[in-house]
Amino acid sequence: MQDDDKRSAAEAAVNEVADGMLLGLGTGSTAAHFIRALAARRLAVTTVATSDASAALARSLGLPVRDFAEVARVDLTVDGVDEVDATCRAIKGAGGAMVREKIVASASTRMIAIADGSKRVEQLGTAALPVEVLPFARAFVEDQVRALGLVPELRRAGDGEAYLTDQHNLVLDCTGVLGQALEPLAVALDATPGVVGHGLFLAEIDLALIATSGQVIRLER
Ligand code: A5P
Repeated sequence: MQDDDKRSAAEAAVNEVADGMLLGLGTGSTAAHFIRALAARRLAVTTVATSDASAALARSLGLPVRDFAEVARVDLTVDGVDEVDATCRAIKGAGGAMVREKIVASASTRMIAIADGSKRVEQLGTAALPVEVLPFARAFVEDQVRALGLVPELRRAGDGEAYLTDQHNLVLDCTGVLGQALEPLAVALDATPGVVGHGLFLAEIDLALIATSGQVIRLER
C-alpha cells in the first residue's frame, strides 16, 4: 500500500516533466519509482543523478545521464523525503545521498518532493537528521552537534562497518531535532568545519506531491 502510494506520487511528478528538460533524479525508493515511470513515458529528456545507484538505474532503463560536474543548471529535480511539513520544508538523507541531493536541488529551477502519506508531518524532527562528516573530523563534529542539542549516532552499514557515502564520508544520524528552531540549526551545521552537508531542506522544495490511498495532494511552498 505504502509502495503503491510512492508510485502514485512518482507518476504524478512525471506529469510535470516536459520534452527537452534536464532533470535531476533523486535517490531512494520513491525516486526509483519516478525514474521507472519517467523511462516508461519515453520523453525526450536528459538527466543528472544524485547518487551512483540512481545513475545506474536510469542508465539501465535507457535514460541519458550526464555527469553533474559539467552541469550548472537543472530544470526540474524530483526526489523523495523522510519528512515533509505543510510549507515544503523537509528532512532528507536516510539513503545517505543528501549532499548531492542538495547540490542538485540548489541548481534546479524547480524541485518537487514525492512521498507517501507517512512522510507528511506537522513538525519536522521525529526522523533522525543525517549529517555527512569528513572522517578526519568525526569526533570534533560529534562534539559540535552535541553542543547544538543533538544526539549523534554514527551510521553503520549492514556489515557493522561505518557506512560511507558516495563521497566516502561518514554519516551521523542526529536525534533531538524536534522542537529546535530549524533555520539557526541549519546555519550552525553549515558553519561547522568538517560538516560536508546535512539533510535539512528548508528552502529547496517548491512543490510536494503526497499520495495517500491513491489520492495525491499538492503542497506548494
Ligand atoms: C536519500 O538520501 C534520501 O534523501 C531519500 O530521498 C529519502 O530518504 C526518501 O527515501 P525513500 O523514498 O526510500 O523513503
